Amino acid sequence: MAKSSLQLKENVEGNFFVDSTCIDCGACRRFAPSVFGETGEYSYVYQQPETEPEKLQAQRALLACPTASIGTHQKTDLNDAKQSFPLELAPGIHINGFNARDSFGADSYFIQHSTGNWLVDSPRFSKHLVTAFEAMGGIDTIFLTHQDDVADSRDYARHFHSKRIIHRLDAGSTKDAEIILEGEDDFKIGPGNIIFTPGHTRGHQVLLWDNKYLFTGDHFSWFPKANRFGSFRNACWYSWDVQIQSVEKLKAYKKVEWVFPGHGHRSKVGKAPFPEYVDEAVTWMKTVQ
Ligand SMILES: [Fe+2]
Repeated sequence: MAKSSLQLKENVEGNFFVDSTCIDCGACRRFAPSVFGETGEYSYVYQQPETEPEKLQAQRALLACPTASIGTHQKTDLNDAKQSFPLELAPGIHINGFNARDSFGADSYFIQHSTGNWLVDSPRFSKHLVTAFEAMGGIDTIFLTHQDDVADSRDYARHFHSKRIIHRLDAGSTKDAEIILEGEDDFKIGPGNIIFTPGHTRGHQVLLWDNKYLFTGDHFSWFPKANRFGSFRNACWYSWDVQIQSVEKLKAYKKVEWVFPGHGHRSKVGKAPFPEYVDEAVTWMKTVQ
């Protein structure tokens, strides 16, 4: 529970506050961008939610916060926000909330599909999500983009008897995964196409679902202030040059309509074909050392 005694001085007055246990993962800023901003060290409340949709977004952010650093001064009913998770973003594609501290608050997703449901990276193990996933048909496959964001995937795999997929080069803490991929080739499984995209880590992979939905882990995301896609230079653990090459590979997937990252902003692709946005990102990435 967030503590009002630890609340940040930057919060504007009102019901919602962030306390100093915040790790600045940015999850709240993605769930409620009109409420939560960034001090450079923490997230904080820059504007209290006023409308009902804004209040719901702020409540979702509170539930998603991996460190329970968001609180309310007044008793606030969070049930509607809780019941809205997993939250549908596109047909069959949901964001889970309940972000995990172990993945530094990465977003995770749930794909509901007639051939078997998928979890993409992992939220924290939550009773609410377990019940919701059960009602939606369970989890057949857990795709792990890379070693940083496995969080509580083992607990979900045990509960749902799911098969976990990860690349061998990132399987250090997930050596018991049911499917460990090797090499650099795409791996097709049902509507999923797994693409090897090293750079952020050595064994990073992304998932292209139904040719339209690209789950990018920490490889590629939307940068709202710059108004373009790109990658995080300051969070590239393996090789920036290799990451640039891996972003260039994405040009081959021309029908991408949505980008769903772990960290960084999710975004619908604009009117131009996806390869043009990839080109723009690569051009920028090559200017950064
Ligand atoms: Fe990562």
